[in-house]
Amino acid sequence: TVTKPVLGIETSCDETGVALLRWEPGQPGRGLLAHTLYSQIKLHAEYGGVVPELASRDHVRKLLPLVREAMAEAGLTPQDLGGVAYTAGPGLVGALLVGAAAARAMAWALGVPAIGIHHMEGHLLAPLLENDPPSPPFVALLVSGGHSMLVEVKAIGEYRILGDTLDDAAGEAFDKTAKLMGLPYPGGPALALLAEQGRPGAFRFSRPMTDRPGLDFSFSGLKTQVLLAWRQSDQSEQTRADIARAFEDAVVDTLLIKCRRSLDVSGARQLVIAGGVGANKRLRAALSDAAAKDGFRVYFPRLEFCTDNGAMIALAGAIRLAGGQQQDETVQVFPRWDL
Ligand code: KG4
Ligand code: ZN
Repeated sequence: TVTKPVLGIETSCDETGVALLRWEPGQPGRGLLAHTLYSQIKLHAEYGGVVPELASRDHVRKLLPLVREAMAEAGLTPQDLGGVAYTAGPGLVGALLVGAAAARAMAWALGVPAIGIHHMEGHLLAPLLENDPPSPPFVALLVSGGHSMLVEVKAIGEYRILGDTLDDAAGEAFDKTAKLMGLPYPGGPALALLAEQGRPGAFRFSRPMTDRPGLDFSFSGLKTQVLLAWRQSDQSEQTRADIARAFEDAVVDTLLIKCRRSLDVSGARQLVIAGGVGANKRLRAALSDAAAKDGFRVYFPRLEFCTDNGAMIALAGAIRLAGGQQQDETVQVFPRWDL
């Protein structure tokens, strides 16, 4: 089993994330020795979204310098490594291949194991990087640019999907809605910032699929409601902020309703928030309020571990390697991959 530091590499989309972590049962966050990140947001901004080929090329440029930086920060040399973990999917195929090829090559040269990790498992386990981490069983709300899911974590590695999105993911809904109101990419944070200036109740959008049982989500209809409201409005700055506020309220409310329902269904009393939309301040406040009222506990990873990062991949890899899991040395990635 591997108890030496594990190098974690995340290149599934537009962030190059690298981290070093030594597995510490019980308090994994304490074992985090270094983490570095390079975001390609500026590179893709002028295209209004991630351009896959440009993403791959930029990962190629940034990955090794970031590894060197993390090593220096941790005071380690490559010979100190016990293994290498990388995101094997889901994500952009070219971007994934950069991380997978580099990870497998480094592991091969060092004579240590490499392990491909499911990106969503990384997000699910990110809260374990914090002090006083939750312990399974818990329910995780995974809300990112590609996913809106409620997952029951019965044990590490034992996951049951309680609900999923039928169309747009929550982050995608933020991004698309922001774009149609003329906000810059990535739209989620921009829209959330604008919503702070919005007047609550000036507009109202529906809470999709909350009026029937079940835990699935659907966000694409909200986008259409916003488009209609925006087209029919005076398109002033205040109106744009008002609509942003109403959209954010609708998404937050919908997520809150489904989170409560998922706790009832599973019987869990711990809720974990993960993925980029977990950075949303109003969502955090709403869930904290609900937790205090309903008597469950809610765990938020720090903002930098909500969005894509190498630390969560190093953690998932360290756990799996410490458990003795092995893979052969084929460089294989899975652009689409069920948890
Ligand atoms: O997890 P993540 O970094 O990447 C994916 O795996 O998708 O999530 C990125 C998503 C984007 O859609 C972004 O707009 C959204 O998270 N996001 C936010 C906020 N910060 C990031 N959405 C709403 N409010 C925020 N503050
Ligand atoms: Zn992600």
